[in-house]
Amino acid sequence: MTGSMPLLSGAATIAGVVGAPIRHSLSPRLHGAWIAAAGLDAAYVPFGPSDGGFEALINGFRGGVVSGVNVTLPFKERALHLADHVDEAARMAGAANLLLFHGDGGVEARNTDGLGLLHAFARQAPDWRPDAGPIVVLGAGGAARGAVAALARAGATDIRVLNRTQARAEAIAALLPCKAFGWRDAGQAYAGARTVINATSAGLHGDDALPLPDRTPGDEAYAMDMVYTPLRTAFLAKAEGVGFRTVDGLDMLIGQAIPSFAALFGRPPPVELDARALLLAALSPKTGEHQ
Ligand code: ATR
Repeated sequence: MTGSMPLLSGAATIAGVVGAPIRHSLSPRLHGAWIAAAGLDAAYVPFGPSDGGFEALINGFRGGVVSGVNVTLPFKERALHLADHVDEAARMAGAANLLLFHGDGGVEARNTDGLGLLHAFARQAPDWRPDAGPIVVLGAGGAARGAVAALARAGATDIRVLNRTQARAEAIAALLPCKAFGWRDAGQAYAGARTVINATSAGLHGDDALPLPDRTPGDEAYAMDMVYTPLRTAFLAKAEGVGFRTVDGLDMLIGQAIPSFAALFGRPPPVELDARALLLAALSPKTGEHQ
């Protein structure tokens, strides 16, 4: 917490984040620090409904008592289905991480995770371009589909989804402009690849046996991991060992929060706050927190 909690007026703008479990979410900390730094009459609070309670919670917000909510696991797909209006990023990703509640009762779904992914590259690999060469996306769940959607929207023309279960990669390739590969064909998927993005949840399970090439095609090759606990994942360490430059997942979290904050509170977050330093402090083992 930075400083004391400002007092809210009866006209305060209320927003939040919905997920289950929600207790380890860093979003309340980040948005709360931005609210305090900007001196807003506003609050950003965590909501952790039971699995069956998600729809009732969201429908209860219709009409705008809450300006909007970020949505995290496991509700991102269900959030999309509740919405009356869906932006293109959310439609392509098949998931929403932001719901906005309008005064007429309508719910608008957006997806800012893709912007977060591009923000991470912009911050940590400014020379990287989405059309600079083949991109391998590891995984074929919701996170991978969101990455493919964002990369395609940003101009990537050669995206290869590489997944342990090939059928799930093929399901993404049926919807979005990318090619599907199973692990047997990892060599083919990696041929000439300049970027690899780990969108699997393998690291969260302590499993780092993901396929990587023996070496990169040149010194301008990048490996990114969406997981940021730990910041330097086993996947990134292994990728660095074979010559990749690395991009960690923390700036993706920040990069999705920036447009979320603007949509929820009607102004961009204050630039003077060092969001990465704030989150690094929150992730420090000394605080006893893990996410
Ligand atoms: P999300 O929606 O968060 O992406 P998901 O739908 O459960 O989550 O997908 C998890 C992804 O991580 C899948 O691509 C999964 O591979 P499979 O489709 O073969 O199950 C991948 N994954 C999870 N654990 C893994 C592991 N230990 N090794 C390799 N891939 C793993």
